[in-house]
Amino acid sequence: MQDKRNGGKPLPLDMCGIVGYIGDGNVYDVLIKGLHRLEYRGYDSAGIALVNPSGKLNVYKARGKVSNLEAFCEDKDLSAKAGIAHTRWATHGEPSDCNAHPHYSEDGNLALVHNGTIENYKVLKDALTQHGCTFHSETDTEVLVQLIEYIKVKNNCSLLDAVREALKQVVGAYAIAVVEKDNPDRIIAARKSSPLVIGIGDNETFLASDATPFVEYTNDCVYLKDEEVAIIERGKPLKLVTLENKEAKIDVTTLEMSISQLEKGGYPHFMLKEIFEQPATLHDCIRGRVVNGGKKVMVSGVSDNKDKFLNAKRILIVACGTSWHAALLGKYLIQDMCRIPVEVEYASEFRYSNPVLDDRDIVIAISQSGETADTLAAIKIAKKMGAFVYGISNVVGSSIPRETDSGTYIHVGPEIGVASTKAFTGQVMVLTMLALSIAQLKGTMTKDEIAEIGKAILKIPKAVEKVLKLNEKIERLSAIYTYARNFLYLGRGYSYPVALEGALKLKEISYIHAEGYPAAEMKHGPIALIDEEMPSVIIAPNDHLYEKIVNNVQQVKARGGSIIAIVTEGDPVIHNIADHVLEVPEMPECLTPIITSIPLQLLSYYIAINKGKNVDMPRNLAKSVTVE
Ligand code: M6R
Repeated sequence: MQDKRNGGKPLPLDMCGIVGYIGDGNVYDVLIKGLHRLEYRGYDSAGIALVNPSGKLNVYKARGKVSNLEAFCEDKDLSAKAGIAHTRWATHGEPSDCNAHPHYSEDGNLALVHNGTIENYKVLKDALTQHGCTFHSETDTEVLVQLIEYIKVKNNCSLLDAVREALKQVVGAYAIAVVEKDNPDRIIAARKSSPLVIGIGDNETFLASDATPFVEYTNDCVYLKDEEVAIIERGKPLKLVTLENKEAKIDVTTLEMSISQLEKGGYPHFMLKEIFEQPATLHDCIRGRVVNGGKKVMVSGVSDNKDKFLNAKRILIVACGTSWHAALLGKYLIQDMCRIPVEVEYASEFRYSNPVLDDRDIVIAISQSGETADTLAAIKIAKKMGAFVYGISNVVGSSIPRETDSGTYIHVGPEIGVASTKAFTGQVMVLTMLALSIAQLKGTMTKDEIAEIGKAILKIPKAVEKVLKLNEKIERLSAIYTYARNFLYLGRGYSYPVALEGALKLKEISYIHAEGYPAAEMKHGPIALIDEEMPSVIIAPNDHLYEKIVNNVQQVKARGGSIIAIVTEGDPVIHNIADHVLEVPEMPECLTPIITSIPLQLLSYYIAINKGKNVDMPRNLAKSVTVE
């Protein structure tokens, strides 16, 4: 039975990245490069299907990262006129060669890649088995390719018609691409709930889960809508039809992404590059939004929806992971500046919490990728209940900005490292500017108060540059703490979500257990953990809670715990108590999280590097979590 709170609609439940190409370029090279760009979506296995000019369909697969597939393909026939490829984040069936995509049909004529989940795969599989089909994998995807072949043979119809008919029988989410042995000049692709974008070049066409695989070849792309099927044919214009075979309109979008944004630019890892990009990304995020020397703040969607923001009885922010930590900061910011009650929920909990909402509620959904399944589901529920939904995202054209009533982009450029860094500071910056523009509208802050913060916002990129000068000091410091087994991160007020974010960064890339806690809550339990083996990172800028956190620092010290403290330059007390201090520039209290979170990003980066971990692709994780 489907969950009614979900609007009865199937949701994207699987991750993975898909890519396809037809054209005169080197098909294998285009696909492999594309898979590397999509590895953030999963790296449990990878595979490729190449349609050979002489009517052969070569399918190669390997467990693990795309580089394993490349090694496997070294001595293989790689000639091709068209091809499709896949990088997997396993859900149905363990990561293995046989569960890797592409999957092919029983007669070997078709190969298919899929991102999504076929919810009714069991029923379809049983029916196909009765018709004599044999299955070779544990995946839901294999059912789809077998079903297409079955319909094609039974109805003696074209591949396009067989795909349309098969998709009508499918319950679930899919972005698929199918190639046929006998036709090296055509790829059929389709989507529902999982993302798919088509790149249109000169005599060549690309398809992918996002635009990164083809950004160096073309800026023209078409985002497929739900239940649209694309017919991609060599030398012919792209054609889109619905599942009912009605021609669909083609809307061409121009990409604003550049290839240099997708490369490491001399840094050893994307994560480090993205940490160091923050002066520039914050500058881009602020540009055009804080004007008149800081006196006016404008964030899109606020003045166009004046009545919604003026009459809001409550704001609810939904997000996951790092975006949820930004959301918590959004609560402090909006409550402080706009005097509107704010609640923050994990999107994954909100969707099953039978929420109480109406048209005087505003729901803000935050997501870097714009594709997180739980956040998308939360948006759908909120919209259904009449709330006005505002999205904050990074990826232009992704699903969340398209589902929301209004919203804004953080404009920090592609974030490739799985650990979110520049997106977090961009989200917090946007939330600060959003709160200021609502305050401007509601008159809950004076012009002078707004101008004081506006002016400080304009100084943020320079202040971040200064914080980044701590890099070498943090690298040296990391050596002392690399082999700690547990860490405690403590903060109060605006620094509490920063503590949570610092702990998450350390956990996800170094696999060290770290707990973020409100510093004053420590005495109600976690203080029992403190001894010489348990370092604490304490975020203690010069704000209205400074005196209070000094007490907490003393309490840790009294129990023999070592302390790394993030303090404001010229700190009066803590630098005498802590074992190590990292000083950041003075900022108004509401802006300190942007400044204090950066040393924590660097600390986790260097600890993970010292431990020899893969910081850009930590185990078990994926950048875009389109799984429930
Ligand atoms: O794309 P989103 O912002 O919706 O992603 C949410 C989380 O999956 C993400 O922030 C995750 O926690 C990161 N790996 C944290 O670094």
